Amino acid sequence: MRWRKYLGLLIHYIRPCRAPLPGAPVPDAQMDIATDIGQHFAKIGVDPLRRAFLSRRAVMPFRGKRRVAAEDVPERWRALMAAASPPRKRLVYLHIPFCANHCLFCGFYRNAYTAPRAADYVEMVLAEIAREAGAPAIAGNPVHAVYFGGGTPSALTADELSRLLRSVRGSLPLAPDCEITVEGRIVHFDPEKIDACLEAGANRFSIGVQSFDSEVRRRQGRRSTKQEAIRFLEDLRARDRAAVVIDLIYGLPGQSPEIWRQDLETAAALEPDGIDLYGLNVIPGTPLFTAIAAGKFPTASRLDDLGPFYEAGAAFFRRRNWRQVSNNHWARTTRERNLYNLLIKDGADCLAYGSGAGGSIGQTSYALSGDIELYAADIGAGAKPIGMMLESDGLELLRNRVTAGFEVGHLDLAGLDSAASTPVTPLVAPLLAQWQKAGLLTFDDGVVELKVAGRFWYGNLISAFHDILNDRLLPRREAA
Ligand SMILES: C[S@@+](CC[C@H](N)C(=O)[O-])C[C@H]1O[C@@H](n2cnc3c(N)ncnc32)[C@H](O)[C@@H]1O
Ligand code: SF4
Repeated sequence: MRWRKYLGLLIHYIRPCRAPLPGAPVPDAQMDIATDIGQHFAKIGVDPLRRAFLSRRAVMPFRGKRRVAAEDVPERWRALMAAASPPRKRLVYLHIPFCANHCLFCGFYRNAYTAPRAADYVEMVLAEIAREAGAPAIAGNPVHAVYFGGGTPSALTADELSRLLRSVRGSLPLAPDCEITVEGRIVHFDPEKIDACLEAGANRFSIGVQSFDSEVRRRQGRRSTKQEAIRFLEDLRARDRAAVVIDLIYGLPGQSPEIWRQDLETAAALEPDGIDLYGLNVIPGTPLFTAIAAGKFPTASRLDDLGPFYEAGAAFFRRRNWRQVSNNHWARTTRERNLYNLLIKDGADCLAYGSGAGGSIGQTSYALSGDIELYAADIGAGAKPIGMMLESDGLELLRNRVTAGFEVGHLDLAGLDSAASTPVTPLVAPLLAQWQKAGLLTFDDGVVELKVAGRFWYGNLISAFHDILNDRLLPRREAA
């Protein structure tokens, strides 16, 4: 499966997985700009939330990146590690690629959890962190956010979680106010593990709930019931020692608008610090995709129906005065910063550890081997287990600005013009006028502001901008 090869970079750039990865769109060098822009137009005269586009586009993490030849990777890595890190925001991502079971909808599943495999794996990650801790590229500038993602970090034992967290805190230059997130699910995340994480410095938990409805949960392979989920989250919040964030998915099979409304109410009543809302993406290769294709499963919501679910969520939080931090994330308290996710979209450097993790340093992105055997072989040989390395073209900064701006619903086009060698506004003005007419955004005073429908289709808007930047600002041979 092609997208699996890129799992690390996918995790790095678009956590959580938003879409299967279609082939990278290659702009036609012969098209003139009018034709090129036309293919990104939204439908006019329809409900923009339901029908603005025929499909939702994912933001391509490898856009404008060229693969570094495998034989050059070790030397490139040595050079990267030997160079002092420039003063810009930095992140750490650590991947735990084990799950107790394969939830039907999920494209992140890689390996079945067994205690001995996980124990060996933790030793390898500890070795990986310790080995490069003193390198000039690692020491120095502060790290602002750390994310333990998966898979299921909470599948590890209390002792393993504690050792990993302490190793990151002891070996890497974390800022005093560093956000340290541990991702987990309810089943197997017992109080001993939670305490171990807190004692070792975790200050944010991101808990995958998806839906509270016991029947919707059961059908997706979620093992705990609604009541167990509620008790778990009440206990976590009552400790009051870390930000608590809940992930929900809308559009799951059997999840009617009424169940969605109850999901929102149940989640909000638990008073977490933040909530993520993700539209279900039926990813090829997942058990859900296979079951739907074989007619063994009732279909999930159609694309037409996803927008209204999103709008219902956005309106729910707006009425309760929650802060919309990004397109998919709302914060109730000031404790919630969502730092990792915001900075990653802004192109911050990210140091990656663990099989399947993805990172970037300056213009270079890399994904660590997703195959645990390959990962183990490299760790055993004293090498960084890089499965793929990519080099960015000169438009990376602009692409990041577009992504980061649309992600928070505001794009400062005037600022983008000053950062670009050629002003961007004239290239995209016809498109913005069309999107404005379609009800996706407003464009005034050099600033683009997304409406709710624009926020729902943000992947399409970002991808269109990236296509146009690529087509118009790169020399022809680079644009291909
Ligand atoms: C990397 S997953 C880890 C989740 C965690 N292990 C759990 O079981 O809850 C992070 C989040 O991605 C979201 N996600 C995963 N698959 C998805 C899909 N097919 N469509 C939409 N969101 C998805 C879920 O909300 C999930 O909580
Ligand atoms: S949702 Fe979590 S536990 Fe389930 S398969 Fe995905 S990563 Fe694993």
